Amino acid sequence: MEVKVGAKIKNALKRDREVIFTTTREDFPLVADHGAGDFIYDIEGNRFIDFSSFVSCYNLGVNGNALIRAAAKKQIDRLMHGMFMDYYEEPPVRLAERLVGMLPPGFGRAFFSNSGTEANEDAIKLVKLFTKRRHIIAFYGAFHGRSMGSLALTASKTAHRAHFGPFVNVSHAPYPDPYRFDGDPEDCSQASIDFIEQNILKREVPPEEVAAIFFEPIQGEGGYIVPPRGFFKELRRLADKHGILLVDDEIQAGYMRTGKFLALSNFGTVADIYTFAKSFGAGFPLAATVARKSLGDTPAGAHAGTFGGNLVASAAASASLDYIKHNMRSLQKGIVRKGGKIMKRMNELKERYEYVGDVRGIGLMIGVELVKSKSTKEYAPNERNSVIMDCFKKGLVLLPAGRSAIRIIPPLTVSDGNIDKGLDILEEAIKKNAK
Ligand SMILES: Cc1ncc(COP(=O)(O)O)c(C=O)c1O
Repeated sequence: MEVKVGAKIKNALKRDREVIFTTTREDFPLVADHGAGDFIYDIEGNRFIDFSSFVSCYNLGVNGNALIRAAAKKQIDRLMHGMFMDYYEEPPVRLAERLVGMLPPGFGRAFFSNSGTEANEDAIKLVKLFTKRRHIIAFYGAFHGRSMGSLALTASKTAHRAHFGPFVNVSHAPYPDPYRFDGDPEDCSQASIDFIEQNILKREVPPEEVAAIFFEPIQGEGGYIVPPRGFFKELRRLADKHGILLVDDEIQAGYMRTGKFLALSNFGTVADIYTFAKSFGAGFPLAATVARKSLGDTPAGAHAGTFGGNLVASAAASASLDYIKHNMRSLQKGIVRKGGKIMKRMNELKERYEYVGDVRGIGLMIGVELVKSKSTKEYAPNERNSVIMDCFKKGLVLLPAGRSAIRIIPPLTVSDGNIDKGLDILEEAIKKNAK
């Protein structure tokens, strides 16, 4: 099938450029009109298989599922927006109870906001409040959002940061990247830990001034980088030694994407604060920052936001969590099996094509890095963009990550048949773009 880009789409793009600020959009003329399950339909009736989950926002299928939509519709007819910051309502409390139930023991309070960047802003305030310390550590390649606090943590591309400083005090350390580490891949974890201890904590800022270390359990925007399994235990040890809190940004990697509710659970340790957004909102703008109960509470007036815990969003998000809870076993089994199937096929392509440099991931969070050659590992952004565009033209939506990786993140509920169809399209595009 060939996607047709007709007058309606061209006109929509033209009108958009007149009145909307440029964001991150590249040149993909996808003007989504509606969607269901594994598919997106555009305004001219083109149908796409979705391997993007709308940037990880529809983990349970495009446009959610019938239970989520029914819960949202029911709440719309009762009360859409409440005054949750000043009075009381039940839907956000029900949601917090469900969310806490998905976390390791000892987690208590949640703060609700509207987006990933806000969830991390909230975490910045909480760690400062709880520790009375001002400095933060994050990682190169990180993406934690674009508002002024979160942007200080973000260090994935200079385009995100240019002209926007000065920032909150943040020092960055190298994120362990087994593929690109110069040496034995297993040593990349220790190199990151050493960098924090020897450079940041000895030369830049004393440990007793560091409030927290923020991290993504798998770097998303930075290139779908999976650290060695022992890394976060080491980071936990380092943090505990100095009374530093760990903030785990589960906004992209979490919510069952890796087969576990928390991506960090794959690494055998826990954080002190978790942040959620994207799929957590079940299609609505909703985010959460959840802290270990022993850290305490916020004094009245220190933090609030008008729309956090919006009632419709909370009802939809609760229905989504209920779905996950009731279908946990089958979801987990499906994610592991389908992820394995995709990895196997992509690894076969890696064997066959010189420019398929690395295939990595956990569950259904998979990155494929394209390079000029396997020996030099030189980034191949043009080839990557061309492969994604060729897939688009054949009806498969994919997203880039990092400098030259492709992310494969279909809805977790994707059918085996649509995985096969999507991978056929991707394989054809990889073959076409091989030199
Ligand atoms: C890991 C991570 N954190 C934070 C964010 C920011 O989320 P939002 O765009 O909702 O502000 C993103 C968005 O891509 C993300 O991937």
